[in-house]
Amino acid sequence: MPVMAVVGAQWGDEGKGKIVDMLAEKASVVARYQGGNNAGHTVINHLGEFRLHLVPAGIFDPRVTCIIGNGVVIDPQALIDEIDLLASRGISVDNLCISERAHAIMPYHILLDRLEEQARGRQSIGTTGRGIGPAYSDKVARTGIRMGDLVDRTLLRDKLAFILEQKNRILTKLYDAEPLSLKEVHERYLQYGERLARHIKNTTQLVQSAIAEGRNVLLEGAQGTLLDLDFGTYPYVTSSSPTSGAACSGLGIAPTQITCALGVFKAYQTRVGAGPFPTEIYDETGEMIRELGQEYGTLTGRPRRIGWFDAVLAQHAMQVNGFKSIAITRLDILDTLPRLKICVKYRFDGIEDSYPPIDLARCEPVYEEHPGWQTPTGGIRRFDELPQAARSYVNRLAELIGVNLDIVSVGANREQTIMLNSML
Ligand code: GDP
Ligand code: IMO
Ligand code: MG
Repeated sequence: MPVMAVVGAQWGDEGKGKIVDMLAEKASVVARYQGGNNAGHTVINHLGEFRLHLVPAGIFDPRVTCIIGNGVVIDPQALIDEIDLLASRGISVDNLCISERAHAIMPYHILLDRLEEQARGRQSIGTTGRGIGPAYSDKVARTGIRMGDLVDRTLLRDKLAFILEQKNRILTKLYDAEPLSLKEVHERYLQYGERLARHIKNTTQLVQSAIAEGRNVLLEGAQGTLLDLDFGTYPYVTSSSPTSGAACSGLGIAPTQITCALGVFKAYQTRVGAGPFPTEIYDETGEMIRELGQEYGTLTGRPRRIGWFDAVLAQHAMQVNGFKSIAITRLDILDTLPRLKICVKYRFDGIEDSYPPIDLARCEPVYEEHPGWQTPTGGIRRFDELPQAARSYVNRLAELIGVNLDIVSVGANREQTIMLNSML
């Protein structure tokens, strides 16, 4: 594996948490490179069931150094809550390191995320309301506060005095909201800094030393390729780049240092929030998959929209990430279906093509039909023991994507996994 990026290949919630937890057994470092606590990564292992938002999914193994990289935006309160919850369940966070360069999500980011969403009205994105977009906007505008700033009383006050005055003007004049108090925000964030100080480090040096020593490093992506700022369904996207390339800028490693990108795909397709979704299923089959799969957001509890596997978008994800390997998850959720569909082309402007145009809303999917297997797969651990129709379905997905299928996941537990490549 030496340096492997694990990347969401659809609209998020593909099961990255499960795959990272499983692969972390062989890793020395697990590092998040983008996103924030808009992520909800579920891990079910011998220690129990956990929902991680900021802490990397390697945290359950005390040998693993877990890094929250510079590309992540951090709500310190959310991180402290997550650390406390893990500690209360006996999980040590001694090996958690936070980049001093990661930007902090401030109270005005959370307020503005919600106010901007309201103002968008019918065009709202359906964000998670965690302040992600406004925090990344401030980073780009060079008015962000970094985690390293939280341990310096004077520096933090000087930065906040300027920024808060601007934000308060927006809050009060544009949105008729209450202003925030400089003193309160300053004191609160200093306390966060004090609490988190022992974890705040130069994490680039940590990742670089691990790579130099030839140790295995997992780069944990959040969200998914179709939520990428550039390659997703803009503007219905998140405000970071979940694709493999962002692991470089999000951690301080070179493109040549990443040995492999593993794409995580669901055996079908889901989406939370607004935006185009060509293969969305509106009838009772969609309802059925939602109930069978309990497809409700890990973070917000919102019902996830359900659709058939979209190979056109999968090929796009393959291209922009350069996957060497893929995992197909949640195959078991399709166990009872009599027939399945895969979108192999789009019809738009009177032509059929196999690449996504900029405006997905105009696309009509062209499907290929496959028989279901109507047999439980959750107990199967070997690929050749899967029902023939299930094997042929996942093989067809891998063929359409054009990459090796290395992992098939047939349940939420760590051991409900079929490994096709022992090298991983
Ligand atoms: P992530 O954001 O990509 O880490 O995915 P989430 O944790 O948000 O959502 C994936 C959901 O599917 C979680 O509830 C997982 O426990 C669960 N899960 C992962 N892999 C499988 C699988 O192969 N089968 C089933 N039934 N559930 C799975
Ligand atoms: P994980 O890591 C699924 C979606 C939101 C919304 C859009 C923008 O668990 O796969 P944001 O709050 O980021 O500005 O919201 O992105 N979204 C996710 N959907 N899984 C996620 O993360 C997501 N993170 C953000 O629902 O549509
Ligand atoms: Mg999730």
